Amino acid sequence: SVHLPEPRVGLVLGVFEKEGEEDGLHLTEAAAGFDQTLSGKLSELLKISGPALKQGKSRVFYGIHKDFPCVAVVGLGKNNEGVCGKENWDTSKENIRQAVSAGCRLLQDLEVNHVEVDACGDAQSAAEGAALGLFHYDQLKSKKKTKVTTQLHGSADSASWEKGVAYAEGQNLARLLMEAPANHITPTAFANTIEEKLGPHAERVTINKRSQSWIEEQQMGAFLSVSRGSEEPPVFLELHYNGSPDSKQAPLLLVGKGITFDSGGISLKPSPSMDAMRADMGGAATVCASIVTAAALKLPVNIIGLAPLCENMPSGKATKPGDVVRAKNGKTIQVDNTDAEGRLVLADALCYGHTFNPRAIVNVATLTGAMDVALGSAATGVFTNSDWLWEQLHKASVVTGDRVWRMPLFQHYTRQVTDCQLADLNNIGKYSRSGGACTAAAFLREFVTAPHWAHLDIAGVMSNKDEVPYLRKGMSGRPTRTLVEFAAGLAHDS
Ligand code: BES
Ligand code: ZN
Ligand code: ZN
Repeated sequence: SVHLPEPRVGLVLGVFEKEGEEDGLHLTEAAAGFDQTLSGKLSELLKISGPALKQGKSRVFYGIHKDFPCVAVVGLGKNNEGVCGKENWDTSKENIRQAVSAGCRLLQDLEVNHVEVDACGDAQSAAEGAALGLFHYDQLKSKKKTKVTTQLHGSADSASWEKGVAYAEGQNLARLLMEAPANHITPTAFANTIEEKLGPHAERVTINKRSQSWIEEQQMGAFLSVSRGSEEPPVFLELHYNGSPDSKQAPLLLVGKGITFDSGGISLKPSPSMDAMRADMGGAATVCASIVTAAALKLPVNIIGLAPLCENMPSGKATKPGDVVRAKNGKTIQVDNTDAEGRLVLADALCYGHTFNPRAIVNVATLTGAMDVALGSAATGVFTNSDWLWEQLHKASVVTGDRVWRMPLFQHYTRQVTDCQLADLNNIGKYSRSGGACTAAAFLREFVTAPHWAHLDIAGVMSNKDEVPYLRKGMSGRPTRTLVEFAAGLAHDS
C-alpha cells in the first residue's frame, strides 16, 4: 500500500449560497482569508469544479496549500437563516453542524489525522458538528477508523469552540454508553464508568453507588421487582454536582431510567431488534453525561443525578404478570406487564428524589414504543406540570437543535392506571393500548408532588439511522446537549 506522510492535516472551510444569485457563492471570513493567501485559487477551483455548492454538499481539493494537503469545502446554505418557527430550531446553527460534520467525515475517510475547522460564524455549532460527526463506536473492532483531532481555524472565538466540544463530548459519552453491549455495560460497569469520568471533578462532585442492601432498606419495592429476575446486582447511582458557590441554592434533580438490558422479563419481547434494548439505559446515560459535562464546564448550578440501574430479565425468580409490589411511598402496584418496567424503577427514584427539595425535577427515559409511534425521531416528548419548566426546556432545545415537543397530561390517562383490580395502580393502561406514552406519563405523575416536574420520553430519539445528518447510524445520545443547555440556563435564572 501507499505510504502516507504523517501526520496528515486537513482543513474544513464553509461557503454560503449568495442571496438572489442562482450560482453565486459567498465565502466565510476564514475561507475568504484562505482564498486571499492563495491569490484567489480557492474561488477559482470552486467555480471550475462544478455547480455552486448547495447546503450540505461538500468538495475536497488536494495539494493547493503546503500546510493543508486536503481541503474540504462545505455548503452552509443561505447566510443568516436564523431561528425557524416552523422547524423549531436555529437553521443557521443546524446547517453549520451538518456541513462541518460532512467535511470532517470526508477527511476522516481520507485518513487525515488532524483537521482545522472554520467557525462558519458560530464556533460552538462548528465544534459540535465536528465532534459529533467524527464519533464512531469501534471500541470492540480490530480495525478502527482514523482518530482525528480537531482545532478551530481562523477565528478568535475559542471559548465558543471549547463549549461546543464539551457539549458534543457529553453527547458522545451518552452514545458510547448506549451503544456498548449489555454484557459490557452492566449496572456496575455503568456506575464505574461515570465515577471514572467524574474523577477529575472530585472537588465539586460526590458519588454514591448504592448497593442492593441500601435499595432494600429504602423499601424501593418497585425498582427491586424489576431487578429480581437478573443475575446482575442492581445499582442505585446518586451523583451530587455542587457547582453553585451559593450552596443553599436548591438543586436541579435529574432522574434517568437505567435498564442496561430490557428483555421484557416474563412478558418477553419478540427477538427481532431485541438487541436495541441494550440502550434502554439511555435516560441514565444522557442524565449522567450531562452532569459530567456540567462539571467539566463548571456550570454555577447545583445538580443531583439519580439513576436506578438494573437488567429486566426472565427467570424462576422474576416478577410475574399479576404480581403486586409496594413502591417506596407505600403505593401498591399490580404489575400486569413486566415489560412496562421503566415506570417502576422511576417511581421509586422519583419518590426518593423529592427528599432533596429540588427546584425542578426532570426525568428522562426510553419509556414507551408508543412515543416512537407518535413523533418518531423528530423530537423528545415532554410531559410536564409546569409551564415555566416547559419554557426552559423548549428554549434550550432551539439552541441545540435537539428538539422537544410538549405532550398532554390529561386526567383521561390517569384513569387508565388508577382503576386497578388488586392494587392502587396498574402498570399498564387498563382500557386501551392507545396513547401508551401518555398513559406511562400519567403513571409517573402518581409519584410526583413537586410543582415543577417534567418527564422526557426519549424512546423515539434513542437511535439514529440517517435522520440527524451529523450523527452516524447508531445510538444517538439525544438529548444530552439540550439537558446541558437547560442546566446552563438555570444558572442564569437563579
Ligand atoms: N424500553 C421499552 C420502550 C422502548 C421501545 C424504548 C422501543 C425504545 C424503543 C419499554 O420498557 C417497554 O417495553 N414499554 C412497553 C410498554 C407496554 C408494555 C405498556 C412498550 O412500549 O411496548
Ligand atoms: Zn420494557
Ligand atoms: Zn424498557
